[in-house]
Amino acid sequence: MIPVTDLTAEQAAEDLALLAAEIARHDALYHGKDAPEISDGDYDALVRRNREIEARFPELIREDSPSRRVGTAPTEGFDKVTHAVPMLSLGNVFDDDEAREFDQKIRRFLSLDAEAPIPYVAEPKIDGLSFSARYEGGRFVRAATRGDGTTGEDITANMMTIASLPKTLSGEDLPAILEVRGEVYMGKADFRALNARQVERGGKVFANPRNAAAGSLRQLDSKITAERALSFFAYSWGEVDGLEMASHHEFLERLRRWGFPVNPETRICEGVEALVEATAELALKRAELDYDIDGVVYKVDRIDWQKRLGFVSRAPRWAIARKFPAEQAQTRINRIIVQVGRTGVLTPVAELEPVTVGGVVVSRATLHNQDEIDRKDIRLGDMVTIQRAGDVIPQVVEVLLDQRPEDSAPYAMPETCPVCGSHVVQQEGEVARRCSGGLTCPAQAVERLKHFVSRNAFDIEGLGGKHIEAFYERGEIRAPADIFRLKETDDANSLIKLRNREGWGAKSAENLFKAIDERRVIGLDRFIFALGIPQVGQATARLLAEHYPSLSTLRTAMEAAGTGAGEEEDNEAFTALKNINGIGPSMARDLVAFFAEKHNQDALDALDAQLTVTDFERVAIGGDSPLSGKTIVFTGTMDTMSRGEAKARAQALGAKVAGSVSSKTDYVVVGADAGSKEKKARDLGLAILTEQDFREIIDA
Ligand code: IVH
Repeated sequence: MIPVTDLTAEQAAEDLALLAAEIARHDALYHGKDAPEISDGDYDALVRRNREIEARFPELIREDSPSRRVGTAPTEGFDKVTHAVPMLSLGNVFDDDEAREFDQKIRRFLSLDAEAPIPYVAEPKIDGLSFSARYEGGRFVRAATRGDGTTGEDITANMMTIASLPKTLSGEDLPAILEVRGEVYMGKADFRALNARQVERGGKVFANPRNAAAGSLRQLDSKITAERALSFFAYSWGEVDGLEMASHHEFLERLRRWGFPVNPETRICEGVEALVEATAELALKRAELDYDIDGVVYKVDRIDWQKRLGFVSRAPRWAIARKFPAEQAQTRINRIIVQVGRTGVLTPVAELEPVTVGGVVVSRATLHNQDEIDRKDIRLGDMVTIQRAGDVIPQVVEVLLDQRPEDSAPYAMPETCPVCGSHVVQQEGEVARRCSGGLTCPAQAVERLKHFVSRNAFDIEGLGGKHIEAFYERGEIRAPADIFRLKETDDANSLIKLRNREGWGAKSAENLFKAIDERRVIGLDRFIFALGIPQVGQATARLLAEHYPSLSTLRTAMEAAGTGAGEEEDNEAFTALKNINGIGPSMARDLVAFFAEKHNQDALDALDAQLTVTDFERVAIGGDSPLSGKTIVFTGTMDTMSRGEAKARAQALGAKVAGSVSSKTDYVVVGADAGSKEKKARDLGLAILTEQDFREIIDA
């Protein structure tokens, strides 16, 4: 088969005709006769080739093109795209002092002298949706959403409809491969016009420009996307081959020359005080701009410094988002309800008189916990100031005491769980109150199941929160493993089969069983995250998988760490766990408690019988570096780099950095004035590296 990039227009037209006929035939076999001739993978390959040819030759898109039909593909929705370079997010700062701290951290990390100002770039933080657009040989070939940062959705056809996206690049020094990243948004004027049109047609009205942009970009039918006025700004890169540059501002300049829209409010700032000034100026201009921004992104300009600074977890050390203050409004608390979360924590929530804050109607605000309620003296019937910042749940800032009803009384949270009636307990030193019902509490069980199937966990298509609630109520899904027995349960069910229930049909029931089957093989890090262990988010799950690369290693280690509980200091497995950089004693205790509990062990055994949890593989980090997969400990002070940089450089080469020396340590890097760790390393006969040795390895 000729690669899409080499096709002539004539060959492309021929291919598109063949593909249209062929895909239509397979659709009929699959949907009409339930007798597919080819695998889903092969079918998807046909659809993808059709889409890629259309992306290159938009003028050849046929009337009967498969891309113009909606929902006929066997896998509904978008194809998945794995990002060659992950798409990261940003850490946040909220005021000038935090911005100065960001600057200080960079100085410390790079061991820079305190006086010389660091050159930065300040860019508006566009409130839209990020995308990555790939160009090969200067031609646009594919675009994807950010997704979970590793895998996004293929939105090539929809991005094709954005007029300002260059489909071919012109100019000098075009890289062979170029992934341009940026933010798609809808202008404020276009947003108002769209909503007016939607009202006229009786269609959906969008809450804000960001939702409108998201709803328009994630349309299965690109004809709808084409009707919506979408724009974008480009601001970073993913995979590139054949691109050399010294600074971020130089990169932006190249983007502009190649024909990409680059934000005109971007400023080069010498030092952090210039960043502070640029932020204040942009805040004043915010309302006049035709697009929503929610802050300013600060980026270290020098690319060699960006490389040295690297990443921590899912965000770069060389960039940060400076958020604008949240938007506020006043309204009344009509009711206070109490929600029970997946770990049993009781959260009081205020039901509000609906009010618009920054263009969004808000009718609920979290009150966090009893301590917060007491501190702010929040009462039923109070008028309050609420605020909304970005996507976070609205919060109550303060009570307007002069408007308090005369008969109001302080609020106290219930002593028993509002869902299951179990006792509410509060551990010493913790503000959270928890339901003591564990998994016998339906709220906890249901919330855990919802987390288990959520996007960054098992990501089971077609199994949303509402479905989980319904299956739970019927007793068909009570524990995670029941999900993977759902088809069996349904087959054995002589009463009402899933396909005959309201909201379901033969096709959707079958699709659900298929979607469940597709998730029987899962990577260890996702699996750990899905378990919903208190405090264990995605980054920690990944960290655990790196240190305990198979499910059985992990379980053995966690059980070992839990033996002789209370005597933590004497337990080697527990010490190793809490010393992992990024874990610490509190998380270690939660992990041990989780794996020690009988019903969690039973749940894991039941899942193990249904699933294949694949061992964690470090994706080529470090490659053949002598540090790859090794455990390394730093001690003492180094001359040429900070401890932070040393750790990060080692991690970038695939090493695990530990805080204490043990028989599992591979290398100990010894700087000046090293103390007991060096002695212990020598006693254990471990490999000891000087700063010079370490530099030679990382600079190799
Ligand atoms: S840089 C590694 N620049 O903000 C670089 N992001 O809160 C990461 N965003 O996921 C992104 N405007 O979707 C960058 N000028 C800008 C941005 C920007 C908006 C978004 C982006 C990112 C999110 C993080």
